[in-house]
Amino acid sequence: MTSNTNKEKKQPTESGLRKGLTSYGDKGFSLFLRKAFIKGAGYTNSALDRPVIGIINTGSAFNPCHGNMPQLIEAVKRGVMLAGGLPMDFPTISIHESFAAPTSMYLRNLMSMDTEEMLRAQPMDAVVMIGGCDKTVPAQMMGAASAGLPAIQLITGSMLTGSHRSERVGACTDCRRYWGKFRAGEIDKIEKDEVNDQLVASVGTCSVMGTASTMACISEALGMTVPGGATPPAVTADRIRIAEETGTRAVQMAIDGLTIDKVLTADAFENAMRVLLAIGGSTNGIVHLAAIAGRMGLEIDLEALDQMGDETPVLVDLKPSGDHYMENFHDAGGMTTLLRELKPLLKLDAMTVTGRTLGEEIDAAPPSFKQDVVRKLDNPIYPRGSIAVLHGNLAPGGAIIKQSAANETLMEHEGRAIVFENSEDLANRIDSPDLDVTADDILVLKNIGPKGAPGMPEAGYIPIPMKLARAGVKDIVRISDGRMSGTAFGTIVLHVTPEAAVGGPLAHVKNGDRIRLSVKNREISLLISGEELAKRAKENPVIEPTAERGYLKLFLDTVTQADKGVDFDFLRAVKMVGKTPKR
Ligand code: FES
Repeated sequence: MTSNTNKEKKQPTESGLRKGLTSYGDKGFSLFLRKAFIKGAGYTNSALDRPVIGIINTGSAFNPCHGNMPQLIEAVKRGVMLAGGLPMDFPTISIHESFAAPTSMYLRNLMSMDTEEMLRAQPMDAVVMIGGCDKTVPAQMMGAASAGLPAIQLITGSMLTGSHRSERVGACTDCRRYWGKFRAGEIDKIEKDEVNDQLVASVGTCSVMGTASTMACISEALGMTVPGGATPPAVTADRIRIAEETGTRAVQMAIDGLTIDKVLTADAFENAMRVLLAIGGSTNGIVHLAAIAGRMGLEIDLEALDQMGDETPVLVDLKPSGDHYMENFHDAGGMTTLLRELKPLLKLDAMTVTGRTLGEEIDAAPPSFKQDVVRKLDNPIYPRGSIAVLHGNLAPGGAIIKQSAANETLMEHEGRAIVFENSEDLANRIDSPDLDVTADDILVLKNIGPKGAPGMPEAGYIPIPMKLARAGVKDIVRISDGRMSGTAFGTIVLHVTPEAAVGGPLAHVKNGDRIRLSVKNREISLLISGEELAKRAKENPVIEPTAERGYLKLFLDTVTQADKGVDFDFLRAVKMVGKTPKR
């Protein structure tokens, strides 16, 4: 008892359990009361004198992508205690793609606010954030970036692949492919139900280079995970070892005061953008990076990102751009193999959560070996970066296309616009035998942007009209102000900014207008005069959506456009300090 009291005296006043005392007007009493309550759970003074490491528990019966949460938390706690810290797990919101209506993106900012405020409100010296499904990792990094304490990301890990009639399958590129086959009448209901059992073969995140895998790789590129933290599948011993290591590392970060602003620098974001291009990553990665960077006072420079694409080929051979799955990427050495290959293009001095720079970590990594998932720079699977940024009178604020997952012959295309005013209009007419559409037309879907839907759903992957699908058409140019899943593929222009719901030019496209897409020239143009466009805007002014109360009101009043990450304007840094990448 005496020695514990001595330790109490030595501890700095603003650490561990003494941080952020509840306001009772008497600090001594606040600490006395806090300790009395926590002792109700059986803690000793010795335990309570150690650095406190928060562990964010996002386990939920509605989130199978986080289904290994109990094992991960146990391993993180072990790592924390091995390093002399006190682990304290606590819950926040958890979001799963298929269980969040109207769309998970609508709730990402709410999760980031939950994360930020719980990190501020509760006493901890560092935090381990456990996330995996698409929106959870960006939400956690956004919140931690604003809270400012030492933070380390732990990824839940990818699911295993399944087997359907001897064919290897995994969510969710194969979900879309098999659904497309069913719509086209190529498989029957029995086979559709059979494959449904195999697409998600275990807990964990989608097994292709979708948004979850993209954000996992980006987290490691940002220096926010321990080396090798991106790729171990959810149910493997490697994933559990990473969890233990993460807990141990968090304690040292707390002792060293390695706060998140030392890791999330402009150079770190540049490395993340480089990796996003080289992995053939999800287009959602851009939106999330813009949101995380915005919390650090940095704007993502889309023009510079496009230029980076000229020198950054796609090297990782994963679906939907390539052939493999995340577990193959892990077997091939994971991000270590990729970062070693990208080394000449990276900002090697960027600090990581290990307290060493990215360059030092690459040099310290195990030697390379023969593998066939990560290509060499001189033998890429796609010669340019996966994502191109488009401009033109249809998207004055920019739009993007995932060129590595697009159809080469459609990337230079002019066609007639077939317009759908919103998702409901699309659902009502897309499969009608009366729809006047050919494979040379361009499908335009309005009002699925940040405010329009609301929440910018992944509805940009407009289905091929039934009559074309049945005729064997596999791709058609599609344009919208929405997003699409990272597991999707096709010649699809997304994130048209400004969106239709706030009066962007997209709102004024009419059936039969001509549209030109030229990825080579980075152009997306509505082929009408400026006068005609202005006349349409005047004749049919757009009334922005509003709400009376609640989170929807907050969302509609404050959400930003895609180029600013679809974050709430009041959550971005008070002062913007620069752009990334620096040019
Ligand atoms: Fe969670 Fe795909 S649904 S990662």
